[in-house]
Amino acid sequence: MRIRHLLVASSFAVLTMALPLAAHAQEAVKPSLTLKAAKAQFRPVSFSSTLPAASGTLVLPLASEADLASRASAISEAERTAIARALAAAEFDYKSGTLSLRGIGGWDRIHVVGTGSDLSAAAVQKLGVAAGRAILKDKGPITVLANGLPAEAVAELATGMGIGEYRSDLYQAKAREAAAMAATTIVTESGEAARAAYEGRGKPLVEAMAFARDLSNEPANVIYPESFVERTRAAFAGVPGVTIEALDVPAMEKLGMGSILGSGRGSARPPRMLIVRYTGRGAPSTGPVVLAGKGITFDSGGISLKAGAGMGDMKFDMSGAASVVGAALALAKSRAPVDVVAIAALSENMPDGNAARPADVLQAMNGKTIEIISTDAEGRLVLADAVAYADAKLNPAAIVDMATLTGAIMTALGDDYAGLFSRHDPLADQLMKAGDASGDALWRMPLHPSYAEDTKSTIADIKNSGAGGAGAGAGAHFIGAFVKPETPWAHIDIAGMAWGGANDLKPAGSTGYGVRLLERFVRDFQPVPKVAGE
Ligand code: BES
Ligand code: MN
Ligand code: ZN
Repeated sequence: MRIRHLLVASSFAVLTMALPLAAHAQEAVKPSLTLKAAKAQFRPVSFSSTLPAASGTLVLPLASEADLASRASAISEAERTAIARALAAAEFDYKSGTLSLRGIGGWDRIHVVGTGSDLSAAAVQKLGVAAGRAILKDKGPITVLANGLPAEAVAELATGMGIGEYRSDLYQAKAREAAAMAATTIVTESGEAARAAYEGRGKPLVEAMAFARDLSNEPANVIYPESFVERTRAAFAGVPGVTIEALDVPAMEKLGMGSILGSGRGSARPPRMLIVRYTGRGAPSTGPVVLAGKGITFDSGGISLKAGAGMGDMKFDMSGAASVVGAALALAKSRAPVDVVAIAALSENMPDGNAARPADVLQAMNGKTIEIISTDAEGRLVLADAVAYADAKLNPAAIVDMATLTGAIMTALGDDYAGLFSRHDPLADQLMKAGDASGDALWRMPLHPSYAEDTKSTIADIKNSGAGGAGAGAGAHFIGAFVKPETPWAHIDIAGMAWGGANDLKPAGSTGYGVRLLERFVRDFQPVPKVAGE
């Protein structure tokens, strides 16, 4: 102890920056041995050209009154007449209405869904999500009448239903285990094409969404940097084309990642930089698309402690990391011909005698020094090293970071859009397109030159909280300062999108925002020029 103190005193500046001392004191804390989430269940899905015998729940999508005759031609005329009568009496809205009828013919429930005429992937998937959620607790078999719909739409419908079946009641073992998830049969004349599309892309997406949402919904006594890594390894086990590396504290020290290390010094759970690479067959060799996620497994604010009310929400502060790894998982499981790296910058932000303080100076991997103004602006600290690592080591075709970074983005965009910041228009355009196509909506935000002024420090190269009013923009600018100007880079602030209460499309908790967006984006990615943007 004494020797260590002397050592610290004699080389203080070097040690605090390059070797966050307290990190050595961090030993893995064993999770509670008894706390383990109850198993979730998925309904097995199959595709059939014929209608199974009436039993359980029938899901009936209809775009118009006339649709009933053709789509439901396989059910008895008496049933069809009863449905038609009910729809008329309810003045059913064929654009977006739903109506559940009980006890018609052999069906316990006929769930009619107004589809409107928009058959885009995002629209049809959303219908499926709502339907999956509406019938979540139905015990019997599920039959979906999807005849007449193109194979792609059928697959999207099935995908949506899988996503809609997600439950966040991880520790209500009875409810979860009692959920008898009987099989789903999708009736369609394009069975083989629909099945291939669903198995090839839809099902991996359903599983990856559940993976990301589970990680986010888990409390911080279960998911911390090391357990996040373990969960990831388990999820990718046996999936070809994948390499996983987790940098521990000594490895990060060696690389000079003083920024993420500084963010985690107050926690008993040491930080990790998790790097998951998936290279598919036939992937382009132009360098990987790197997705870097903020992985703060709990954000108490650190020494700049947050107020108590609502602090528990900060278990979701690793949602960016969950979504980037989730997107890579979806791509890998579907054998997509892409080269993608997901980096989860994992750290727990806690107050403690070892924690970083306001006015401390840290040094990131690219050599830039950072003055801490607020220890609560920690997401940008972990991402600084994540993007600097990607830039220096991976020859990235593009870097996209995703983070629950600022309360300010919620004030600006609410829970309708995530904020997109980029110096590279061609990259931003591709992300906007992926947003539209996936349903994970984005709104482009500016990177005004004034943000550089706002984040100027008098002692270090940059400070971690801006002096100006543009809180989300200052955060984005800060992260961008750790990426070479010519590297195509974008930042997505998902603070308003990552979680929320229960509604028709989701249970309380994580939304899984970003998994579908990034999966779509990486699949469609076209290289963009590596020139300094503005
Ligand atoms: N994780 C928070 C951002 C956040 C706030 C996400 C509310 C979701 C809901 C982030 O680490 C944070 O504390 N940001 C500060 C930044 C400030 C200190 C510059 C904020 O937004 O107040
Ligand atoms: Mn914070
Ligand atoms: Zn945070």
